[in-house]
Amino acid sequence: MKITLSVIKADVGGYVGHSSTHPEVLAKAQELLEKAKNDGLLVDFHVTRCGDDLQLIMIHQQGENNDRIHKMAWDTFMECTQVAKKLKLHGAGQDMLADAFSGNVKGMGPGVAEMEFNERESEPVVIFMADKTSAGAWNKPLYKIFADPFNTIGLVIAENMHNGFSFELHDVKKAKKIVLNAPEDIYDMLVFMGAPSRFAVKAVRHRDTGEIVSVSSTQRLSHIAGRYVGKDDPVCIVRCQGQFPAVGEVLEPFTHPHLVAGWMRGSHHGPLMPCPVAQANPSRFDGPPRVIALGFQLANGKLIGPRDMFDDPAFDHARAQSNQIADYMRAHGPFEPHRLHLEEMEYTTLPAVMKKLGSRFEEIKD
Ligand code: F6R
Ligand code: MG
Ligand code: MG
Repeated sequence: MKITLSVIKADVGGYVGHSSTHPEVLAKAQELLEKAKNDGLLVDFHVTRCGDDLQLIMIHQQGENNDRIHKMAWDTFMECTQVAKKLKLHGAGQDMLADAFSGNVKGMGPGVAEMEFNERESEPVVIFMADKTSAGAWNKPLYKIFADPFNTIGLVIAENMHNGFSFELHDVKKAKKIVLNAPEDIYDMLVFMGAPSRFAVKAVRHRDTGEIVSVSSTQRLSHIAGRYVGKDDPVCIVRCQGQFPAVGEVLEPFTHPHLVAGWMRGSHHGPLMPCPVAQANPSRFDGPPRVIALGFQLANGKLIGPRDMFDDPAFDHARAQSNQIADYMRAHGPFEPHRLHLEEMEYTTLPAVMKKLGSRFEEIKD
């Protein structure tokens, strides 16, 4: 059975501040997607949230970039924005950057990850959703999952993945893309992937079959809007098992809470803390950044699940380590590398301060 898995997300208003999502917003989304399912547009769906981001996980048979699916998601976010406005939630409608829908939610504010594929005999998928960070946050885990045998032993000892995976990298600032192959291109690949503020992995494919295995959202809201309107807070879909990495190989990279950009005012680095959905309410200094992972088995397009994959004591150590790293980073206060590089900050007073003090700068002559 050929199906499309679409994850479309937006911040339509935070509760309280930017820390979480109000239950009434979730209930409205649930109601509208239920209607879309009854109308036959969706095969199945799951509504969730990570921090202040509303997440619509949808299965349908309309293919990728489908205007009916995108319009329904857009309309859902707009109606949820009305709920957020009624409750005066913080930043109500903050990701709804266009006044009217124009065929595709890409470039309009919401984040999108979609893949169309033939459902296998067993089709386990893990959907990662993050808050207070940007799409480049997936680079390191995706490298570990699909190119690092110290993480994914299947690359070495499983014949059906021994030929590796190809990575589609997007230059999010120049709107260009390149496909590189692991293992032979890994040194070149890491030149780009190691710079997550500019390059993000959009898709990963199984080289022997060309099958899609992972897709991420790579929209950069700040570039779309031309000004700061919030971090992308990205999502990433990963198909697992068989010719793809096992669920455990897919989750393993998140035991290392790597530093990502996007904490407080989208202007600080902090550790990416893996946590269950119930704990994805970034509150300390509006963070630290969170990632949740929902696992599903697909059955003829039905989402069997979710299992809350980070709701496991095996990730307690990563959470404790995240808190230690958070203390260490916070102690830097307004100094880099806790604070982002001047050009990368989403909030900046630099132009105003320069305007005020520019004339007081003197040439250094000696
Ligand atoms: C970070 C984030 C928050 C806000 C901060 C200020 O991605 O969303 O840290 O940037 O709380 O928010 P405003 O400007 O809405 O008061
Ligand atoms: Mg917000
Ligand atoms: Mg958010």
